[in-house]
Amino acid sequence: LRKAPLFEALDEEGAAALRASVSEVRLGRGQTLFSEGDEGDRLYVITSGKVKLTRTAVDGRETLLSVLGPSEMFGELSLFDPRPRTASAVAVTDTVLAGLGHADLRPFISGQPGVAMQLLKSLANRLRRTNDVMGDLVFTDVPGRVAKQLLDLADRFGKEGEDGLHVHHDLTQEELAQLVGASRETVNKALAEFALRGWLRIEAKAVVILDIDRMRRRAR
Ligand code: CMP
Repeated sequence: LRKAPLFEALDEEGAAALRASVSEVRLGRGQTLFSEGDEGDRLYVITSGKVKLTRTAVDGRETLLSVLGPSEMFGELSLFDPRPRTASAVAVTDTVLAGLGHADLRPFISGQPGVAMQLLKSLANRLRRTNDVMGDLVFTDVPGRVAKQLLDLADRFGKEGEDGLHVHHDLTQEELAQLVGASRETVNKALAEFALRGWLRIEAKAVVILDIDRMRRRAR
């Protein structure tokens, strides 16, 4: 938890005080933490595991906004602007989270500028990413978007192995397609094409990136 940017911004005393109001939450794979539209009064920092943030369209189709992993944070929008949850949070693997009540956090935001800056920085980052994704949905083809998402997942979850960069994203094919914003068929076709060219190897809920330069060029 100490490694989470939110806590890094605190001095020892502040970190200890905030830690005292943390409650631990454990979720099994597929378990929902909260749903879009719920009242929200806590922010969460992931200790271990992965959480997906999803929205459901009126026709029932799901889009995956993001997959977050250890030391990443979510559930802060309702802290700054007390309105219902803007997305649902579901565990994609067994996950442990630290929950922090919005009420416990508020004094730190006003008393410790570092904490407020960290929260703003994470919001700015998210907006930047969202703008990127929006632009890509209009201007980038599906293979390009697949390459981009895989590189983003690699940045956050990748582990260098002897034969390449192992990315255990823990997502099903359907979830990967929801993240890319395309059908499962087109996403699978793009993945198969990359594999055929020797740029990556497909494994169960993972890929091994074999040629990162080509993947980067395809993502551009
Ligand atoms: P909140 O609205 O409280 O609950 C849902 C959370 O999902 C939200 O806070 C954010 O932390 C997170 N979230 C919403 N939109 C996005 C997005 N586009 N990318 C990543 N996370 C998001």
